[in-house]
Amino acid sequence: MRIVCIGGGPAGLYFALLMKKQNPAHEISVVERNRPYDTFGWGVVFSDATMEAMRAWDPESAAEIEDAFNHWDDIEVWFKGTRQRTSGHGFVGIGRKKLLNILQRRCEALGVELVFETEVASDLDYPDADLVIASDGFNSKIRNRYHEVFEPDLVTRPNRYIWLGTNKLYDAFTFDFRKTDHGWFQAHIYKFDDKTSTFIVETTEDAYEKHGLGQMDQQGSIDFCQDLFSEVLDGAKLMTNARHLRGSAWLNFNRLICGKWSHFNGHSHVVLMGDAAHTAHFAIGSGTKLAIDDAIELTNQFNRHGHAKEQIPAVLEDYEEIRRVDVARIQNAARNAMEWFEVVGRRYADTLPPEQFMYSMLTRSQRISHENLRLRDKAWLEGYERWFASQAGVEPSADGRVPPPMFTPYTMRGVTLKNRIVMSPMAMYSAKDGVLDDFHLVHLGARALGGAALVFGEMTCVSPDARITPGCLGLWNEKQAEGWKRFVDFVHGNSTAKVGIQLGHAGRKGATKLAWEGIDQPLQTGDWPLISASALPYLKNSQVPKAMDRADMDRVKADFVRATELAVTTGADWLELHCAHGYLLSSFLSPLTNRRTDEYGGSHENRARYPLGIFNAIRAVWPKDKPISVRLSCHDWFEGGNTPDDAAIFAQMFKDAGADMIDCSSGQVWKEEKPVYGRLFQTPFSDKIRNEVGIPTIAVGAISEADHANSVIAAGRADLCAVARPHLADPAWVLHEAARIGLTDVAWPKQYYSGKQQYETNLARAAAAK
Ligand SMILES: Cc1cc2nc3c(=O)[nH]c(=O)nc-3n(C[C@H](O)[C@H](O)[C@H](O)COP(=O)(O)OP(=O)(O)OC[C@H]3O[C@@H](n4cnc5c(N)ncnc54)[C@H](O)[C@@H]3O)c2cc1C
Ligand SMILES: Cc1cc2nc3c(=O)[nH]c(=O)nc-3n(C[C@H](O)[C@H](O)[C@H](O)COP(=O)(O)O)c2cc1C
Repeated sequence: MRIVCIGGGPAGLYFALLMKKQNPAHEISVVERNRPYDTFGWGVVFSDATMEAMRAWDPESAAEIEDAFNHWDDIEVWFKGTRQRTSGHGFVGIGRKKLLNILQRRCEALGVELVFETEVASDLDYPDADLVIASDGFNSKIRNRYHEVFEPDLVTRPNRYIWLGTNKLYDAFTFDFRKTDHGWFQAHIYKFDDKTSTFIVETTEDAYEKHGLGQMDQQGSIDFCQDLFSEVLDGAKLMTNARHLRGSAWLNFNRLICGKWSHFNGHSHVVLMGDAAHTAHFAIGSGTKLAIDDAIELTNQFNRHGHAKEQIPAVLEDYEEIRRVDVARIQNAARNAMEWFEVVGRRYADTLPPEQFMYSMLTRSQRISHENLRLRDKAWLEGYERWFASQAGVEPSADGRVPPPMFTPYTMRGVTLKNRIVMSPMAMYSAKDGVLDDFHLVHLGARALGGAALVFGEMTCVSPDARITPGCLGLWNEKQAEGWKRFVDFVHGNSTAKVGIQLGHAGRKGATKLAWEGIDQPLQTGDWPLISASALPYLKNSQVPKAMDRADMDRVKADFVRATELAVTTGADWLELHCAHGYLLSSFLSPLTNRRTDEYGGSHENRARYPLGIFNAIRAVWPKDKPISVRLSCHDWFEGGNTPDDAAIFAQMFKDAGADMIDCSSGQVWKEEKPVYGRLFQTPFSDKIRNEVGIPTIAVGAISEADHANSVIAAGRADLCAVARPHLADPAWVLHEAARIGLTDVAWPKQYYSGKQQYETNLARAAAAK
């Protein structure tokens, strides 16, 4: 085959050498516009997994690369006058120039033709090529030529960064955060050879503008950074090697992914590789890794299908399919890490204490968890756990141990929860006339015995016509209050758990069948008239609700007050106002469901007016020493709906009204929603609201292990974690998770002690057998 790689970066060079090695009969050229052994860029970092693959595919170049590696284990954070360090993180760095030189030499040794100082205008310049590799980097001319085929999806990120170097050598991956009059700047610093360290400085567009960095030449920017980071530089100078960039050299990161990666141009198959196909933010340093992994996978597919030109279409198809998955995974992790640095100033730097700031930074990609940190640096993590426990008022035991974050107590008003786990409200559709009876007593009682600190009953409806289904719990009469009291007395008498009641009104999502008879489907018989913010049905076949008028609003408010007064008589510890999931109060908050033109529609203030009115009314009758949380849908997951920014505005309003916590859920507002699910998928909303609005939060959604909860609580992404479905699978989820992480001093109900011992012994045996 005749192969031409346009662009001699890591992708083009590595692919050329691998293919030549697999089949020396291939005629391969790499065409590069720069001079030989001339490149811009400082150091790049690699992962162990990529290095392992490189050793397997080409031990010769891998050995040279490894020889040139700088390895370091530590991360050091400079923040508000503190310097904190942890170990066990394992990075390797190499100068970009050094890496390319090794690859260039290896290409030459294998017989790849290297053509330098040649700017390629088009893939059509090589009509004799069977395969053209577009490895021409992020600004790929080749990709741009076939814009319509490759469908590049480009998102320009808001932060500005400048890629500098210094001759000061750092023995840790160092992060330095500095506050200026116009905002925070951070430096990402790592050594990559025995003379040089990479020094990337990043800030927000706002700080960049206000400091006039856009108007400065490169030397001006260097002087500014040198001055700002003088302490960590300790007299060393900063340098640029991007003199080819005109202007200030501060860049915006562009996240790129393409809809299609290959194209037949009439003569040759053209395929994208490396930065031409996708980018990953430097916050997790994976761009070079992705480029190398692309080269390996394309070669691998030729080995699978055969090194003949007839196989090229099948090879390209499989290459794209496989690489797309890995790239999406890395881009996801990179996105979390990148966003952390984008909001660090307003969200974390001014609010979190240095210890928690460091923990939050280390876990920014959400790929490194609490237990993962323990594996990396046990001593550091245990020190952090002691610090966290002391903040929660927990003294270490005689042997110095403290509970992990999830098992520290939490106090809100007069209520102290023994740990940070809440059983999330879950509708059971099993009540008759809204009464909490034997099913609920056993169901909720078992969860209270199972270790959750706060057990919520399901959404409890404030009137018969506030119900979602005929099987929902209610709180509009004495009998229902007695049912609740029986349960509350059971929990208070037999466990150390607390009880929460979530009050709600179904609004336009009411009068539906029991979940297992057709979720959200309207009742055929026995339904009742619906009300909502606006007269919009939930499904096409749902009843059209009446847009609430003044009288409806007054009646429903009185219903909420009556339900709260009845809740007081039950002795429950905690109240939650359900303003999420498209139910009545949520229908006011979302612009998708609120089309009103009166003072209850339009602006945030107007949309929140009715839910806030309800909140104020129930707060006035609920005991002062007991908390009220508010559940919000923090994202409608639909164009034109509420986003986390809107949720933060509402959270601020509820905070100002005296709400104690925001329970950060999302969705279920609009049927055509497009949620993005995944582990901890709603936790970012909680993180944002807690740390930007400054109100305690409950995180919920796909928190399914102690390790998840510990990571969320420790990082200050939430104060409590609500766990729903795992509690359906396992009433003793909390106790079992404690045992699984080796925590044996969490109390089980005294009646269950012999079960505890056996459970722990079996787990220990299974772990030993592994
Ligand atoms: C600030 C910053 C920090 C980074 N840090 C890291 C890190 O720590 N770790 C990491 O792995 N990655 C890092 N990267 C990313 C990394 O630089 C790229 O992801 C990686 O180099 C991609 O390799 P590539 O071969 O696809 O593209 P490139 O390295 O961009 O190579 C493309 C080549 O094509 C040449 N070229 C372009 N157009 C033409 C043309 N028309 N004719 C001829 N030649 C052409 C260019 O001169 C260049 O040599 C960082 C990037 C930035 C911006
Ligand atoms: C069967 C079931 C019923 C639910 N009912 C309610 C409810 O009454 N009120 C509420 O706010 N959320 C309700 N939810 C949502 C959960 O409280 C929780 O937010 C969601 O399941 C995500 O958490 P998880 O991933 O731990 O399950 C329900 C969820 C399930 C699975």
